[in-house]
Amino acid sequence: MKSTRTFLIFPILLLSCFVCLAQGPEVIIPVPSEVICHDGTYEFTGQPDVKVRRVKGMAPESYEMKVSEKGVTIKASDDAGEFYAFQTLKQMTGDGKVESIRCCEITDSPRFPYRGLHFDVSRHFRSIGFLKKQIDAMAGFKMNRMHIHLTDAAGWRMQIDAYPRLTEFGAWRPQRTWKEWWNGDRLYAEEGTPGAYGGYYTKEELRDLVEYARERHIEVIPEIEMPGHSEEVLAAYPELSCAGEPYRQGEMCIGKEATFRFIEDVLTEVMEVFPSEFIHIGGDEANKEHWKSCPECQQRMKDEGLKDVDELQSYMICRVSRFVESKGRRIIGWDEILDGGLAAGATVMSWRGTEGGIEAMKMGHDVIMTPGRYCYLDHAQDAPFKEPESIGGYLPLDSVYVYEPAEPSMPSEKLHHLLGIQGNLWAEYITEDAHAEYMYWPRAMAIAETGWSLPEDKDVADFRRRVLIALDRLEEDGYNVFDLSQEYGERKLAQTGLGHKAKGCKVVYDKPIQEWYQAAGETTFTDGIIGGWTYSDQRWQGFLSDIDVTIDLGEVTPVRYVGGTFMQLKGPGVFMPQKVDIYVSSDGESFTHVAEVWNDVSVNNEDLLFKSFDTICNVEARYVRYHARRSTMRGFLFLDEIIVN
Ligand code: ACM
Ligand code: ZN
Repeated sequence: MKSTRTFLIFPILLLSCFVCLAQGPEVIIPVPSEVICHDGTYEFTGQPDVKVRRVKGMAPESYEMKVSEKGVTIKASDDAGEFYAFQTLKQMTGDGKVESIRCCEITDSPRFPYRGLHFDVSRHFRSIGFLKKQIDAMAGFKMNRMHIHLTDAAGWRMQIDAYPRLTEFGAWRPQRTWKEWWNGDRLYAEEGTPGAYGGYYTKEELRDLVEYARERHIEVIPEIEMPGHSEEVLAAYPELSCAGEPYRQGEMCIGKEATFRFIEDVLTEVMEVFPSEFIHIGGDEANKEHWKSCPECQQRMKDEGLKDVDELQSYMICRVSRFVESKGRRIIGWDEILDGGLAAGATVMSWRGTEGGIEAMKMGHDVIMTPGRYCYLDHAQDAPFKEPESIGGYLPLDSVYVYEPAEPSMPSEKLHHLLGIQGNLWAEYITEDAHAEYMYWPRAMAIAETGWSLPEDKDVADFRRRVLIALDRLEEDGYNVFDLSQEYGERKLAQTGLGHKAKGCKVVYDKPIQEWYQAAGETTFTDGIIGGWTYSDQRWQGFLSDIDVTIDLGEVTPVRYVGGTFMQLKGPGVFMPQKVDIYVSSDGESFTHVAEVWNDVSVNNEDLLFKSFDTICNVEARYVRYHARRSTMRGFLFLDEIIVN
């Protein structure tokens, strides 16, 4: 925000607000590009007096607003700019609750053209009313894309006239929760079966949603998943799978022409309902094994000169992309669409990290950044012990907020391909609409501000202050929001670090560290940095074997305590060790066994758990060997630090 006075003036403004009840630009999310505050206030009753002028030559979606003692004047580039000026005014007036606002001048325009939020309506069906309610909130924070994940194994959610079984059968399942369904037989049910859970949107309902969003300057982008995540399609139309049978695979057969007829027919109907520039065609997480033994897939590879199954998937994505482009639209795909060759004109949504986005951008493709580590709102937003069950992980508001989409390795001459940012909410563990709403707000505000405001104008502490005000408003408007004022935060020791005798000492590893969870490499166990709520925070080191390490304390010294904390999270296969053996030595050759610490945590416990495997001892030693035996469940071991005192 370009304003020399603004930061200094905010505390004074806040004080004066209490006196005169006038609000100013200090409440606005996302923070505007430029604010100049003036003395005086504009008092009004009912609606403020607003004069709007359209100005050519301003950037799209931009506006300027001047509040004087006489009223409000707005200059806007286009309808969206005017709309956003009114959203700013609405925040300043507390949506009609305040009848006095500070005199000021605001000049504002978005950093990125794409500021999105994602809705997984497959894992759990959401009402149109819920979606419209989220559109209202999104628009208020100047977000402009709703990505709706309409199809996945857990249920197909859009009426398709040419393929009625998608919604007569593929939209319903015996179990209400995704978890029970996933852990059960993963069957589907006929529509109308007593107790069947599911649902779908008629075209009329979707057209109404699209129009509702359009009026609020939000484009709804439909996602139709292919070739993977398509179990429900293949249950309804088994002839589209390699085996020709339901419940055998989740990937469509790419050898069959019927598959392409299906996709083209479906997308034709989808494009009739959704006028969006982009059509999302998924492309993520396909298990390509079935294609290797399917005669038709193999024949396709031969006919098209494709050397492997990555190229087979790429053949499909390219062909579908050409079809979509022939209708004047463009595809978006998850970053797996890079594998085997990226379709010309495709836009990449980078989720597994940022590398896919960077690679696509270097190739001259548009990208939308949505890396899981910062943008996956399905992770718990506070200490997992106080939050509803989630898919795991920990992503508090601050961590979403600090994400910077433009990375140093992105070539500056390609930065125009960085279209923007999106927050994703996968709904495996989110059965209720109210729970989904709680997961979005306030973290979607962080996505909104990163998408709109310049990095130099962002400030975590100031953002949190504004978020508390915005959350009160949302709550008053009936939203179920996370109570940021009661945030517990990160594990306490993870915030402070820990000093101990082995800190900085060399560690020799006898077993390899798993490549994705290296943390700080061979200094991890003695760097004094304690792991947080999630094993993916690069403080926890991961192993798919025993852990067997020896610490060199540098000299023979009294050792009274040796211990390390492990994490268990059954869902992703993270378990406590069976036991830990602790040995000491003075010369590094002859070791004495000082403790054997057995696990007493059940492998069936599904909670996030931490347990210290430690011992109190009374020895003199230079070397400490810490050997954790992998669980009988196998899976990962995660350890953050070995504390010696
Ligand atoms: C994804 O999270 N599978 C895109
Ligand atoms: Zn096949």
